[in-house]
Amino acid sequence: LARHLLRRDGVILVSIDNNEVHHLRLLLDAVFGAENFVDMMTWRGARKGDAKLTGGGQDYVLVYARDRSYLKSNDIRWRERKEGLEPIYAKAADLRKKHGGDFDTASKELRDWYKSLADEDPSKAHAHYNRIDDKGIWFSDNISSPNYRENLIYDWKGYSPPANGWRYERATMERLDAEGRLIYPEDKTKRVQIKSYLHMREEWAPASVFYRDRRAASSNLDSLMGAKVFDDPKSTDVLARLFHAITDDGDLILDFFAGSGSTGHAVWEQNPKDGKTRHWILVQVPEKPDASEASGKNALAAGYETIFEVTAERLRRAAASLQRETLDAPQLGFRIFRTRPTNLVIEKPLFA
Ligand SMILES: C[S@@+](CC[C@H](N)C(=O)[O-])C[C@H]1O[C@@H](n2cnc3c(N)ncnc32)[C@H](O)[C@@H]1O
Repeated sequence: LARHLLRRDGVILVSIDNNEVHHLRLLLDAVFGAENFVDMMTWRGARKGDAKLTGGGQDYVLVYARDRSYLKSNDIRWRERKEGLEPIYAKAADLRKKHGGDFDTASKELRDWYKSLADEDPSKAHAHYNRIDDKGIWFSDNISSPNYRENLIYDWKGYSPPANGWRYERATMERLDAEGRLIYPEDKTKRVQIKSYLHMREEWAPASVFYRDRRAASSNLDSLMGAKVFDDPKSTDVLARLFHAITDDGDLILDFFAGSGSTGHAVWEQNPKDGKTRHWILVQVPEKPDASEASGKNALAAGYETIFEVTAERLRRAAASLQRETLDAPQLGFRIFRTRPTNLVIEKPLFA
């Protein structure tokens, strides 16, 4: 059903843990075609240091395109803003203030700061941007062309071209030179490099492996709902980032397993951030909360007879809270539809 509902440029993301991911991947290969497999993202959460064997804590997000070749022929690129940029900009601004024009000392302190960060810190992924100058934060990047092109082979200020040629044509090299972007080694047999600035490269492909502690999502939901009424909700910020990277204005996001309704909440969170209007449809069966679990017991005690009622109430509260946060927020709302047995008289069974 999911495959038939997808648009030609559509994609499906399925979240699953360690126990069943291998079965699910084979199943999705069979339904969507192995050629439409995009990735198996790994979501690292808190590890269990006191586990008997391995620390675990990871989940997977299987990503399949409806038609991967269509994405390729339309040159579709998924992009997201790098995480952890603001602390780097703030640090560099401090260092510039402290050291003025002494960029060597400022750069050295920036490198020390990167070293002091924990491995999970998103800023650490950009530690190669480790030099400061008056224009920003940069690293010394390769300037050779990835593929051989005749017109990229030319001598530049006494430096002979790399085997495949320079990355840019002569006119662009002249502009980069005028902007002070090129770095010339004294030894003319060495390579000319280019300054790649962080503020010019703020977007990249979404990471295939990422870390996000799930406990924050749980405690946010608990405080929104006034009690723990649902276990292990997805983090709305992780979903929102994926929606930002993969979907566009006017797109429709469908979640067959709504649970606490994180998908709807995440779409509402993301829309004002990038100025797009995405819509959602959530599906939730009227399953009873599980009275053998603490969250199910709480849900029943709070008067929720089904998980569907939890989903709907979460979305009402999320809408109210988002509208309180931003005065000019658009009116958020949703309609509820109930599925019923069909009224059509089916004379011949659809499936023999
Ligand atoms: C793990 S929860 C999803 C959690 C959700 N992503 C969130 O962040 O809150 C899975 C949901 O799927 C529903 N579900 C489980 N089996 C189902 C089935 N066979 N058909 C339809 N829904 C099902 C359950 O009621 C539950 O709400």
